[in-house]
Amino acid sequence: MRMNTPKQVTAATLARAKREGQKSVWLTAYDAAMARLAEQAGVDVLLVGDSLGMVLLGFDSTIPVTLEHMIHHAAAVVRARRRAWVVVDMPFGSYQQSPEQAFANAARLMQQTGCDAVKIEGGETMAETICFLAARGLAVVAHIGLTPQSVKQFGSYRRRGVNEAQRAQLLRDAQAVTEAGAVAVVLENIPAELARELTDMLDIPTVGIGAGIDTDGQVLVWHDLLGLSERQPPFAPPYAQLGETASQAIARWVSDVRAGRFPAEDSCA
Ligand code: KIV
Repeated sequence: MRMNTPKQVTAATLARAKREGQKSVWLTAYDAAMARLAEQAGVDVLLVGDSLGMVLLGFDSTIPVTLEHMIHHAAAVVRARRRAWVVVDMPFGSYQQSPEQAFANAARLMQQTGCDAVKIEGGETMAETICFLAARGLAVVAHIGLTPQSVKQFGSYRRRGVNEAQRAQLLRDAQAVTEAGAVAVVLENIPAELARELTDMLDIPTVGIGAGIDTDGQVLVWHDLLGLSERQPPFAPPYAQLGETASQAIARWVSDVRAGRFPAEDSCA
């Protein structure tokens, strides 16, 4: 969107951007350095995603991620941000039990990190919880389509919304989270034409990842954007090859140390 104002981004800024047909740009960030770089490049929304469990912490899904992990990383992102809106994922097990559980943990996330909004995976089934949080003053981002915390139920990270039953469910999910008071909705890995239909249907901004070009905004995982992922998703060709650059630099340094070329003799002079 590169919104026309240098002011702090808020949920209202994103709603206005949708009305004015401006794209919002979201990127995951998990620490202060990432937040600074993303903001300097013009990113509007920093998402402290529970993807950090996979790309930073070495878990094979997002399910082992805890509230403490999210607080640790989100607090670092918030310390570095100046203008961007900071959204934090509620991790698996921290909100599904009841609206009250979700409120207690969302309040902890907000008080201990200073974040602006929380994100919750799930559609119709989470509408009551979203409504409970929204009624108590929280900004909630919903996340539907491929919801990685449900990978054990889905059995894979494959595309959702690909048959009539899934498509109908996604329409109900999108309607339900909007009516419940979500301020935006992430659409992950669904067909582009379905994402377009949802974007046209909803008053709240849609943010796509693997959902085509017609959503109100786009979000990517930091590691996928910059060529640091072990498994690159097909919908996100990297814009740089930082993994390769880093490993070449490290290999050069290893070889210099082994050969007695590092440090250079006069490097402390
Ligand atoms: O955890 C995450 O990074 C996310 C994005 C993939 C949207 O939820």
